[in-house]
Parts: sequence; structure tokens; C-alpha cells
Amino acid sequence: MIQVFPNSEDLARAAAALFVEQRPRTVALSGGSTPKRLFELLADPNEPFRDQISWSSIQFFWSDERHVPPDHPDSNYRMAKEAMLAHVPVTESNVHRVPSENPSAAETASDYERTLIEATQQSLPKLDLILLGLGTDGHTASIFPGSEVLHETKRLVAAPWVEKLQTYRITMTLPLLNNAASVVFLVSGSDKSKIVKEVLEGPEKYPAQIVKPTDGTLLWMLDEAAWPGRRSV
Ligand code: 6PG
Repeated sequence: MIQVFPNSEDLARAAAALFVEQRPRTVALSGGSTPKRLFELLADPNEPFRDQISWSSIQFFWSDERHVPPDHPDSNYRMAKEAMLAHVPVTESNVHRVPSENPSAAETASDYERTLIEATQQSLPKLDLILLGLGTDGHTASIFPGSEVLHETKRLVAAPWVEKLQTYRITMTLPLLNNAASVVFLVSGSDKSKIVKEVLEGPEKYPAQIVKPTDGTLLWMLDEAAWPGRRSV
């Protein structure tokens, strides 16, 4: 399923409405910059979304995280906290950030996998909603083209070295992503138009194209800048 909105604000609003409608109890937040406006809208007391959400009953996870401390400017957790979590009545113990301050990325990944299993009481968690973004190289979460993590079949969380970024990342793997009840890609901006065309119209060659929930829904939500001429909403 693909929905193309006139602009990034309409995209964020539609994603916020979907969040309210789906009433997820377990959510993996995506990183990067795209979801920030969604997070702000969900938390804004002057918007219709916040009061319709049962914040204290939601368990929050991250689909990926940079290998930096939680207060680092690049931290996906920090962005979500500043844009949303610090402003809404979440239950602190339900906010499961990646312990990315650990100098060992591998340990961070295995610790986070344990957190996911314990918090969901499932050996292969079926998260209600996983939000994902799309990189201009076709990566999603922190699964980059050519990464060994593309072939992971057992681990739920891994810590791949990302050559192009010269850093480790911590990421949910495809077995976990594809076990979700609902996966929603949020893609915005003209800088993504080339990769969007390849990913949504071309042959399967990018990590983002391998995200296909085995027993769940897959929704691509884009703005028209990201997929020109394809406005559908
Ligand atoms: C990250 C993300 C990554 C992101 C895409 C899109 O940690 O950066 O998880 O997969 O979703 O790179 O990023 P933008 O939203 O900033 O374009």
C-alpha cells in the first residue's frame, strides 16, 4: 500500500492520524530527521492526536540507533525525547532506548535484543508498529546496501560496521522487522525522489525492498516531493 501526500506537513499529519487509529501498544520509532514532525504533532497539546493516545500503555523501542550516548546530537533517542517523549505522559519504564553509551556496539545489540524479548515476553517479538525511513542509498533502519546484516536470520538486533559512515550502528534486523504487525515507511523530500523511484518501481536490490512483513501490513507514506506526479491522497 502506498499513499502520496501533497507535502511533508500533510504526510506527518496523516501519519499521526494513523498512529491514533492503529492504537499500537508496542512501537519502534525510526530515526533520522523525517519522523520529527510526526513526533511533534503527536505530542502537541493543541493538536487532536495527543489526547487520543493512551501514552502510559505504549512500549517504545527504536528500529535503529547511532553508536553514540543518548544525549548526543546524533542520537535518535534524543530527537524522539525532545520532540515527543519528554512532553507526554509515557511510563518511563516503557521507554526502551538502545543502551548506545556502551563502548561495545556488539554488547549494545545483544543487550537490546534481550530488552526486546523481556519487554514483549516474546522470543520473536511481533511489534504492533514499526516506523522506518529510507536513505538515499536505499538503506532502512541501519541496514545498508552490502551489509552482512542483510543476511541475518537469527538475531533480532545487530551492530553492523557501516563503512560509508565509518561507524557502528545498532539496528533491528529483517527477522524482527518482518515480524511486525504493521510497518510504515515515512519518506519526504525531493532528495529521496531518485531512490524512491528505484525502490518502488524497480527490481529488488535495496535493503528497504526486503522489508515485507510475513504476517502484517506494509504501508509507504510519502510526500509528492519524494515521488513526483504520484499524489494519491
Ligand atoms: C537513522 C535512520 C535511517 C533514516 C534514513 C532516513 O538512524 O538515520 O534510522 O534509516 O531513517 O537514513 O533519514 P532522514 O529521515 O534523515 O532522511
